Amino acid sequence: MKSLRLSVAGFGVVGQGFIELLYNKQDYLRQMYDIDARLVGVGNARHGFIYREDGLDVPTVLELGASKRPLTDYERTRHWDTILEGLQETGANVLVEATSTNLRDAEPALSHIVTALRLGAHVVTANKGPGALAGLELLALARQQGVQLRMESSVMAGTPVISTILEGMAGARIQAVRGILNGTTNYILTAMAGGREYAEVLAEAQELGYAETDPTADVEGYDALAKTLILAGLVFNQPLKQEQVALKGITGVTLDDVRKAASAGKRIKLIASLRRNGDELEASVSPQALALDDPLARIDGATNALAIQADTLSEVTISGPGAGAISTAQGLLADVLACAR
Ligand SMILES: NC(=O)c1ccc[n+]([C@@H]2O[C@H](COP(=O)([O-])OP(=O)(O)OC[C@H]3O[C@@H](n4cnc5c(N)ncnc54)[C@H](OP(=O)(O)O)[C@@H]3O)[C@@H](O)[C@H]2O)c1
Repeated sequence: MKSLRLSVAGFGVVGQGFIELLYNKQDYLRQMYDIDARLVGVGNARHGFIYREDGLDVPTVLELGASKRPLTDYERTRHWDTILEGLQETGANVLVEATSTNLRDAEPALSHIVTALRLGAHVVTANKGPGALAGLELLALARQQGVQLRMESSVMAGTPVISTILEGMAGARIQAVRGILNGTTNYILTAMAGGREYAEVLAEAQELGYAETDPTADVEGYDALAKTLILAGLVFNQPLKQEQVALKGITGVTLDDVRKAASAGKRIKLIASLRRNGDELEASVSPQALALDDPLARIDGATNALAIQADTLSEVTISGPGAGAISTAQGLLADVLACAR
């Protein structure tokens, strides 16, 4: 039996979802993969980092999260005021990074990841900041340290696009990818195609928890932009900066635009696109009117999708959930198992 000791940075929707999934799957992981995965550390912004060398009791940890009590209420654990200090002084085999995304400087995730890699731990992350701002540098550091850095759930959550492209389609030269990478905006555009006004649908999406109180990151396209930057580095090996991606969100899309597109037999979707043009990589995030025979035109609601064009496979399209606690945790779990392999 292979034993894995995991620390989780970030104890919000995804961090707690991952810990719950790991716990619910423990027997299955033993049976199917011969892996005994144990949670040894967990931390957040408010309470810092707690750690137990022989493993934390998961129901106790989850109960603290559910009852919104501080992690420090868990007795007989070692404690540091910040996750970073805790990571520097403890040694898990795998760091699961699930703190909030920050597209300005990727912190604190960037420091968490660099620290763990330098200590010789594998890292799996759902966070978009590090992959978008420093993906290739971090992968180079991981290689140098002889460990893995994986970020499946940073793009389309647990729906496997990065591993499908890098592993399933290994050897294929990717010419272009086009995707619906943000569920909130697709939910809004789908409802508008049904005749509803933007403002009304946005308010509904906020009530349902699909959209944040401040929806800027989604509706202005920044979330899709971050995922586009991650794919530029990982899939095309060409790091791009935010300014190199032509960006337009959906706030300017009117019901009239959607109706006109429909009468021309088209659907408006927020499309993230990366395409090789000679040595250049052209990148954009913008609303586009797609003909109904386009595989992305009929991707509705909060679903995400990516269409991949390669030299050896004309077009492969993957669609599935792009958010949610367990869907995202699934991507982290798959990455943890890949590290164990
Ligand atoms: N939710 C999804 O469906 C989804 C899907 C794909 C990817 N992701 C990515 O996964 C990550 C986690 O998302 P989430 O939905 O779980 O967010 P969340 O519920 O807001 O949780 C974020 C966690 O990060 C911690 N945190 C924030 N800033 C920190 C700092 N400076 N130092 C230490 N800890 C800090 C927070 O601490 P406190 O609890 O103390 O505030 C919280 O525990 C994000 O990067 C997100 O982009 C999320």
